[in-house]
Amino acid sequence: MIRELIESGLTPATGIARRLGYVDEVVAIGARERRHRTAWATHLARTASFVAEVATGGDHLVVLGSGRLLDLPLERLAPRYRRTTLVDMVHPRAARRRAAALAGVVCVEGDVTACAALLGTGHGLPSPSFPRVLSGHPPPTTTISLNLASQLAVAPSQWLERHGFDDDVIARFGAALVATHLDWLATLPGRVGLVTDVRRRYTRRGVAGEVVESSLFEVPLPPADQAWTWPVAPEGEIESAVTLTLDVEAFGDWTRVRSPASASTPGGGP
Ligand SMILES: C[S@@+](CC[C@H](N)C(=O)[O-])C[C@H]1O[C@@H](n2cnc3c(N)ncnc32)[C@H](O)[C@@H]1O
Repeated sequence: MIRELIESGLTPATGIARRLGYVDEVVAIGARERRHRTAWATHLARTASFVAEVATGGDHLVVLGSGRLLDLPLERLAPRYRRTTLVDMVHPRAARRRAAALAGVVCVEGDVTACAALLGTGHGLPSPSFPRVLSGHPPPTTTISLNLASQLAVAPSQWLERHGFDDDVIARFGAALVATHLDWLATLPGRVGLVTDVRRRYTRRGVAGEVVESSLFEVPLPPADQAWTWPVAPEGEIESAVTLTLDVEAFGDWTRVRSPASASTPGGGP
């Protein structure tokens, strides 16, 4: 706990990232990974190896949701590209140090939903839209959305809950964040890879069956290239007898499977 408080205080971040809880969430991910290192190992290795297959090299690699770099083989990938841009609301100090040690790697603090800064402005619920986080950067040769899609709504939902929004409004907003992200990815040049959890499975020791819910607010995905499970919260993490396992899916060429022609209009509200 003290370690997390210190890390949170020392993590460089924008005021919005701190106020909306993105900093605390990135710090919490680190603590969870330390508690469940063995349980998480296969998921992290599967993600890293999938990303290494997709990111074969070229001019510019963009990684969205790079965070703590737990699931990104950065030292292997960066030499394959002239430049690598890591995009996240929060880049922890350890991730910044790894990036700084490699030629051509930059960290961009940015919001891929273009919504966070608008929450709390008194203008009602913002509409997710295509972000400008890559403008001013060369076009990507390869983009990876890295265990990010299911996390887009986490901090905004908590803010909306605290400010009295109804559950169904929050769920519609979450679905709009996810759908807009998937649509935006399909408009990017170059090859786009996507790794995301798609379902949460809760089981309780001694109770038959499981409770299953969508991680993506029921936004449908096409058939995946690879799939695996991530025992993200072994017994004791959430409750003493409860286990949470995520179903993860990976897509090696998102633009092909989800063509821009079939994508919905950017800026569509929840
Ligand atoms: C589950 S983590 C992904 C794992 C990450 N690659 C790692 O190894 O830590 C989700 C990441 O998405 C980032 N994130 C969530 N919402 C975001 C947003 N709107 N814009 C940019 N990054 C966001 C979080 O800060 C976090 O680092």
